[in-house]
Amino acid sequence: MKTTIIKVDPSSIKAEDMKKAGALIKAGELVAFPTETVYGLGADALKEEASKKIYAAKGRPSDNPLIVHIADFEALEEIVEVLPKEAKLLADAFWPGPLTMRFIKNSRVPDGTTGGLNTVAVRMPNHPIALEFIRAAGGYIAAPSANRSGRPSPTLAEHVAEDMDGIIPMIIDGGQVGIGIESTIVDLAEDEISILRPGFITKEMLEEVLGQPVVFDKGIDGCHPDVQPKAPGMKYRHYAPKAEMVIIDGDLDRVVAYINKESERLLAEGKKVGVMATEETVLQYKATDIKSMGSRKNPGSLAYNFYKILREFDDEEVDFIFSEGLGEDGVEHAVMNRMIRAAGHKKIQL
Ligand code: TXA
Ligand code: MG
Repeated sequence: MKTTIIKVDPSSIKAEDMKKAGALIKAGELVAFPTETVYGLGADALKEEASKKIYAAKGRPSDNPLIVHIADFEALEEIVEVLPKEAKLLADAFWPGPLTMRFIKNSRVPDGTTGGLNTVAVRMPNHPIALEFIRAAGGYIAAPSANRSGRPSPTLAEHVAEDMDGIIPMIIDGGQVGIGIESTIVDLAEDEISILRPGFITKEMLEEVLGQPVVFDKGIDGCHPDVQPKAPGMKYRHYAPKAEMVIIDGDLDRVVAYINKESERLLAEGKKVGVMATEETVLQYKATDIKSMGSRKNPGSLAYNFYKILREFDDEEVDFIFSEGLGEDGVEHAVMNRMIRAAGHKKIQL
């Protein structure tokens, strides 16, 4: 299949481009598109056969449900069985934006979209192209991140092309995304409100709007092998670069010393070593390939660069990646959550 890449300027979107993309979705095809978090791989969420194509294109396990993207709050009422009052509060505060809410679904949403679950996760993305595209496509787009399953999520259209060229008919190139990690997922389908995946919208932000405590799902960081996460996607090795990756966590001076010592040993063996550092430490490393995720004083910068750096290490064919660990709260925790999976849970605590 030939993949057409169309460049779209988010500040002057041509109706004609959106019409073409929308027509592909209406015909049951797949279109990759930018959102503010990561690029999504879209299909008509209300057509089982279309959603199924997503699983094939990604190589994704069929029990891993898709997020349904909408462009208007009213669209939500059409697909859920119960609309809890918290949904309106959170939508008013954070939609369009990087927050996904989970509800009990109604029969309009096919099982093929939700991996057989009776719940549906819904999000309204804050990206002008995504919103126009969803409207042009009929209002309901099922979209996982547009990477092959197990690869780092795409933050540029070039990343999508690396994974999906020849597999899908269209990629909408809207430039680099603004946030860089996937949305926060909050569960409104059960009595207790819990976070199923951390993201840019933090626990504290949710609690402030809701005026009640919000808990983290126990399986969220995958640290307890016997606890199943409520979001099936959280159980897979994810976001993984090709190289072997280890997180080194703890006091930063000791982290730098440890990584330098280990890099020297690996370099002597003829290995190519990559380091994921931060602005605070980047000048202190001796490995072959050193990249800064951003500043610890600005956690958003860490999210913005994280996946891009993992893909750069793949391109540069490093054999080994050492990454500095990040903090346990807010956006740093959200990035660390992805890092733990990228490293296949390999972490050394100093
Ligand atoms: O920012 C995002 O959310 C991006 C962009 C494209 O919107 N999408 C995204 O989709 O990250 P994906 O498929 O890569 O991750 C969706 C996660 C998976 O872990 C999946 O298991 C979980 O959401 N999920 C979806 N529907 C669910 C449901 N009904 N119950 C529990 N978990 C669900
Ligand atoms: Mg994903």
